[in-house]
Amino acid sequence: MTPLDAKRPLQLNAQGQLQHFLSLDGLPRELLTEILDTADSFLEVGGRAVKKVPLLRGKTICNVFFENSTRTRTTFELAAQRLSADVITLNVSTSSASKGETLLDTLRNLEAMAADMFVVRHQDSGAPFFIANEVTPRVAVINAGDGRHAHPTQAMLDMYTIRHYKGGFAGLRVAIVGDILHSRVARSQIHALNILGAEEVRLIGPRTLLPTDVEQLGVTVFTDMAQGLKDVDVVIMLRLQKERMDSALLPSEGEFFRLYGLNNEKLRHARPDAIVMHPGPINRGVEIASEVADGPRSVILNQVTFGIAVRMAVMSMTISGQESSQNPDQGGDHGR
Ligand code: CP
Repeated sequence: MTPLDAKRPLQLNAQGQLQHFLSLDGLPRELLTEILDTADSFLEVGGRAVKKVPLLRGKTICNVFFENSTRTRTTFELAAQRLSADVITLNVSTSSASKGETLLDTLRNLEAMAADMFVVRHQDSGAPFFIANEVTPRVAVINAGDGRHAHPTQAMLDMYTIRHYKGGFAGLRVAIVGDILHSRVARSQIHALNILGAEEVRLIGPRTLLPTDVEQLGVTVFTDMAQGLKDVDVVIMLRLQKERMDSALLPSEGEFFRLYGLNNEKLRHARPDAIVMHPGPINRGVEIASEVADGPRSVILNQVTFGIAVRMAVMSMTISGQESSQNPDQGGDHGR
């Protein structure tokens, strides 16, 4: 058990409800299914003329992003707005953190504004766990991506996408391709797919971009793209994270694309009805060809749309869990 995993139980209250959402590792299948079902109930809100429900009216949500983001930050903002919460986003590059304020002092100031939830992205693995341990009880913390460790809401929107197109997880073969070593998304996806009962999770990539403990993750490893893609139902491509990479790990982008970049020719090894996913941002011509990214089997933009409903589900469930923790006799009613 890693130190981060040792802190996992702080995610659940005494009733087993979510009160923070930090990592998927060790969470029960029923809870992940509840998140997907709750997201189902929120999906239609995005199609309404007035895209709002009053579930979190009066709540204050702070998005605190210490690292760049397009999809996660904006879909968390939209999710909070659709739940009728008040939402602020702190861009740390323009905040007083750049003048030397500590992480804890920044958070204490936001707490003093009566925040009910922090949505945190941080470059250091474990930062959201640290914050969840430090905040006042009643404040929920959601991990929006920490270092190489976890990106649980991304993995849950990916699971939502798979369930939407494939109907469930039983019997499914899922391939995760590319830079697994630096990917917090891959780690969370592996946990989610194993918890939800996928038949086989395959990792495909060069040895230099696979973690050393990869065999312990409950996966099958392939270094050959054609063998790894054979008969899979879902292909998840990952971005090559050059900013986290020692240049010795990779011969060249061109060589990487030749061996592991997904084009129509390589996609032919997967099942004819296989879907193609990518958490974004995509690098065209590095890990994925435009003919695939924009092709009929790509569901990459649908993942973004589903992400709003999934984040609405996680936000409402954690607020509900916090309310149950504070008032065990009354229980929160924001889960649905
Ligand atoms: N998938 C993802 O986390 O994208 P952003 O970095 O744009 O949030």
